[in-house]
Amino acid sequence: MEQFSDPQIHLAVPEQVDEIFAIMSGVAAQMEHPEYYVIDDRDYVARHISQEGFTLLWMEGETVAGFLIVHLPRPGDEHNLGNDLGFSPRQLLLSAHMESAAILPQFRGRGIQKKLLAAAGGRVRQMGFQYSLCTVHPDNLPSLKSLQSLGYQVAATKLKYGGKLRHIMKKELGSIQGGFPMKGLHHIALWAPDESGFRQALEFYNKVLGCPVVHTWERKGQSAAMLDLGGTRLELVIDPAGANGPFAHIAFDVEDVDAVVETVRAAGRPITMEPTDVSLGPDYPARVAFCKGPIGELVEFFQVK
Ligand SMILES: CC(C)(COP(=O)(O)OP(=O)(O)OC[C@H]1O[C@@H](n2cnc3c(N)ncnc32)[C@H](O)[C@@H]1OP(=O)(O)O)[C@@H](O)C(=O)NCCC(=O)NCCS
Repeated sequence: MEQFSDPQIHLAVPEQVDEIFAIMSGVAAQMEHPEYYVIDDRDYVARHISQEGFTLLWMEGETVAGFLIVHLPRPGDEHNLGNDLGFSPRQLLLSAHMESAAILPQFRGRGIQKKLLAAAGGRVRQMGFQYSLCTVHPDNLPSLKSLQSLGYQVAATKLKYGGKLRHIMKKELGSIQGGFPMKGLHHIALWAPDESGFRQALEFYNKVLGCPVVHTWERKGQSAAMLDLGGTRLELVIDPAGANGPFAHIAFDVEDVDAVVETVRAAGRPITMEPTDVSLGPDYPARVAFCKGPIGELVEFFQVK
């Protein structure tokens, strides 16, 4: 079982959905100012046990005293609060939401929401998120104070949830990697020894394994192709020296090649190709750079332009 800094904090499991939803709906029904606390349905709670985020509980013995639901927006989620703050696509990918918190009235006054927020912030940071975002009504002082005391700041104030006034609160969690979280693997590249090897490899990956050819282009006067492996791509290129074996490089999908290269350089890794604008065919401009990895591997940073 995952341990948190406070032993009373637990990760919710599916069997606790009804108990959490009962607290959520019970607290909402008793609100002096109902507009402060907008709630969702049971299915929403169920989806935030593991699929769309996670839920932290504060336990008093066997009793759930309160909860905090964390939502992890998927790429392209129009409800990502970073959209309200003008976040870049990369910042949106690195944003987590502290979505819904409620403490049963008899357990309030002990800063439990704050402890849950701190634990959740630590957890999403470990997961690689860099921004923690949430909304709060400007007059919901217990919630606002809990957030502010943890370093959350008012980043915008606007109408949300069909016309309800909300501060959008933001906290920068910082990167635990200290570098640049990758957007994923862009491609793996294989050397073919010559044109005939290239054709055989293309035939195998395209015709036998059914990987669609996404791009073809000429590299130094020789054939090159990019195939879709189902999310990640495979680049087939011809090795001019013909002697380096089939593995060419792995390429990370990055937001800013130049910034990554400066970090890699500062870490002492040789840059074997400085950031360069390239074209993989007429409709595929990219900016790429290469470095030598610690065990001799060639690593590419690939920024789609
Ligand atoms: C918001 C909520 C989760 C906070 O519960 P809690 O963790 O027990 O909060 P506390 O009572 O310990 O109060 C937190 C802070 O607000 C302050 N506070 C509490 N009530 C206050 C009030 N009426 N006026 C001003 N400050 C107040 C506390 O002094 C404390 O400040 P401190 O950190 O400087 O000591 C709880 O009030 C709740 O369930 N509310 C209903 C649902 C809700 O509004 N959820 C938030 C929106 S998602």
